Amino acid sequence: MRKIIATTAAIGAIGLSAWAEDKVDFAKSVQGVFEARCIDCHGPKKAKGELRLDTLEATLKGGESEEPVLAPGKSGESELFKRIALKADHEDIMPPKGDPLTKEQIELIKKWIDEGANWPNGLVLVSAKDRAEAKAAAARLPEPEIKEVPVSDAEKAAIAKLASGEGIGENYAAPLVMALAQDTKLIYANFRLVGKNVKDKHIAPLADIQNLSELDLGNTQITSAGLAHISRANSLTKLSLANTATDDSGLKQIEGLSNLMSLNLYNTKVTDAGLASLKDMKFLRKVYGWQSGITDKGVAELKKALPNVDVNLGFKLAKAEPKEEKKEEKKEDSKPEKKETKPVAFNKKCPVSGKDIDPAKLFAVGFCCDNCLGDFTKDPAKHIAKVKGPDNKKCPLSDKDIDPSKQFVIGFCCGNCLGDFTKDPSKHIAKVKK
Ligand code: HEC
Repeated sequence: MRKIIATTAAIGAIGLSAWAEDKVDFAKSVQGVFEARCIDCHGPKKAKGELRLDTLEATLKGGESEEPVLAPGKSGESELFKRIALKADHEDIMPPKGDPLTKEQIELIKKWIDEGANWPNGLVLVSAKDRAEAKAAAARLPEPEIKEVPVSDAEKAAIAKLASGEGIGENYAAPLVMALAQDTKLIYANFRLVGKNVKDKHIAPLADIQNLSELDLGNTQITSAGLAHISRANSLTKLSLANTATDDSGLKQIEGLSNLMSLNLYNTKVTDAGLASLKDMKFLRKVYGWQSGITDKGVAELKKALPNVDVNLGFKLAKAEPKEEKKEEKKEDSKPEKKETKPVAFNKKCPVSGKDIDPAKLFAVGFCCDNCLGDFTKDPAKHIAKVKGPDNKKCPLSDKDIDPSKQFVIGFCCGNCLGDFTKDPSKHIAKVKK
């Protein structure tokens, strides 16, 4: 069960488990079927036959009959499987309306049950219809009007300084600072890749970038004090402070960012008190608060001021666990859960098939420091022979312990290609292209 709990730092393990196991992936193969075909009648709005199928607990509890609806490991004893596998004209078949499930869907659900009915901790299913309605409602909400301003000399100088990586790291280690698109002055800045080298003073030039629109400070060493540098970034719509030391005083610094729409506070020290600083951000839609100090109570309070905000606190169980536990899980886990925290592959096309990559099929190599990561990135073919497999504990170049934030991530289109690559990385490495 714990396998599916995900974190950013799980990158190393993703490659390994995607390659080593071939189990039915609930999120990919089962969840969608339940959400599209079952939850409307067996969910929070209606519970036909007194049965809900939107949580594992409810599904295990079963419905009005004595029959077990879900017997993990035993599809033959699970009413859920028996009902979907009935002949199309049988009066008890589920779903009772519309086409029966396809052979493939039925097979996958059977396999999923026989493999133990793995269901991510605390995951609550939402009917496809409700999901679409919520999405449509969100699309109708007003958006901030961001005005580009002429690029001042100070802004030009600040962009040049950041893009050179001056003072931050040696060699390749510069933050990414670029226009959001070809025809805009709005700026996207990403310090995540430079990660642990970035301290408060390094982000000072941001204060001069008036067109700053999206900013990723995730995995950096910035503190709440450093956020003063962006306290007047009024064009900012998207900000990530994930995996930083940000606390409530940090949110106080940025409370005036009235156009912010998305804020990532994953694994920060922010609590309900800090969340209250966001109440004037009238365009705020998404707050990621998994593994922070934010509770349901703080969320309820914020929603009084911002009814449309969606605060994602992740899995309840994971949040309640002590720190030690969390660290372990990060190593073992297998699947990234949130879009925000997904590791990003270096390449866009699968080096084996040439097809588009699946962001869940990754091969991640860890390094001890930016220098080794930089050397590897410059010429992967030269060093690949030293890479023994994904999820390495020692840096392939220096043999020192790895720093989990220093990774070279290769994406694949499917588990087969990932498997082929893993068997003989040097055969395919030359095809790994940006
Ligand atoms: C249109 C509404 C509707 C949909 C959609 C639907 N069901 Fe049902 N389901 C019912 C009704 C009504 C009953 C109670 C009557 C019965 O047992 O046949 C029921 C009963 C059941 C039962 C028996 C509960 C018990 O106590 O034994 C199971 C299992 C079940 N449904 C599974 C599913 C699954 C799995 C899906 C999706 C693949 C699904 N249902 C989709 C209406 C629905």
